[in-house]
Amino acid sequence: MSRITLRQLLDHAAEHDYGVPAFNINNIEQALAIMEAAEAVDAPVILQVSRGARSYARDIMLAKMIAALEELYPAIPICVHQDHGNEDATCLSAIQHGFTSVMMDGSLKADAKTPADYAYNVGITARVAAMAHAVGASVEGELGVLGSLETGQGEQEDGHGAEGTLSHDQLLTDPDQAVDFVALTKVDALAIAMGTSHGAYKFSRKPDGDILAMRVVEEIHRRLPGVHLVMHGSSSVPQELQDLFNAHGGEMPQTWGVPVDEIVRGIRHGVRKVNIDTDCRLAMAAHFRKVAQDNRAEFDPRKFLKPAMDAMRDLCRDRFERFGTAGHACAIKPVPLSEMARRYRAGALDPHFAAAA
Ligand code: G3H
Ligand code: 13P
Ligand code: ZN
Repeated sequence: MSRITLRQLLDHAAEHDYGVPAFNINNIEQALAIMEAAEAVDAPVILQVSRGARSYARDIMLAKMIAALEELYPAIPICVHQDHGNEDATCLSAIQHGFTSVMMDGSLKADAKTPADYAYNVGITARVAAMAHAVGASVEGELGVLGSLETGQGEQEDGHGAEGTLSHDQLLTDPDQAVDFVALTKVDALAIAMGTSHGAYKFSRKPDGDILAMRVVEEIHRRLPGVHLVMHGSSSVPQELQDLFNAHGGEMPQTWGVPVDEIVRGIRHGVRKVNIDTDCRLAMAAHFRKVAQDNRAEFDPRKFLKPAMDAMRDLCRDRFERFGTAGHACAIKPVPLSEMARRYRAGALDPHFAAAA
């Protein structure tokens, strides 16, 4: 069995000081690109699926595709994670379809637009955590709202993201509140806000500490050394991919993402899960453009998809190597959900507030 919970995987990552990229998937091409990269470097994987991806690909397709990946890559532990669950039913139906982990994003209300207050976030996250843990699945919570410190705007990708202008108090996770939140909800991983946002347009210049507040990660890790931190909006939007996209008819305005070195710095300070979607999209789309422009007579979709998959595979491999994920798959023996449930019941997986061993 190669399906693993987020909790077991991130406990291993913390013990061995590495981070795990969580790549979004919507189709077999993205899933195979990730798995090929993982197999090449012996990395465990997190495949994460947004609500948009679930309605695009359909739950049954995703469930059977992931079962096929387990057969194709038996040596690679696979965590299947719901990205940005907006309410109980999203998270529970994901578990029904074989997900081993869910994000209950209570930083926003169920409309995935309206910033929620702290009591709402604690209430819904604790409730989902109790239900998920009862069957052994893991839970990621979020405290603080994702959005730009430059503009105060959240992002609106596929309808998910805060609307209106946010204050720095909302955009930066409060370290004291983080301690309280983890104690009250018992989440397995905590997503924090420090100036990253979803999509390609994160920063209007190479980010410094004013607009990418890595000090918040460091401060939260100092107070919660045994808790796994999650960085959302962690695409780097590589310049070479922007250039390739634009060289082949694209019109992407110049933009900056999160430098990989800053993510590596985060991994040294407790970041264990690093969410990446945009870079994979851009790698694929830049190559679609290139094929379309270089060979205007081409109409076989596979001739577009194969170079796009290869580009995504190379990007994923780079992140597995730079985050230190590579080389760890073979050492992990996935623990079944039933045993994880027993450990939660026994209190053995309650959050650690002291330094990790
Ligand atoms: O949550 C952000 C991810 O990039 C997923 O995006 O909702 O367009 O699938 P999506
Ligand atoms: P990017 O848009 O930076 O890839 O972030 C993806 C993400 O955080 C998914 O939850
Ligand atoms: Zn996210």
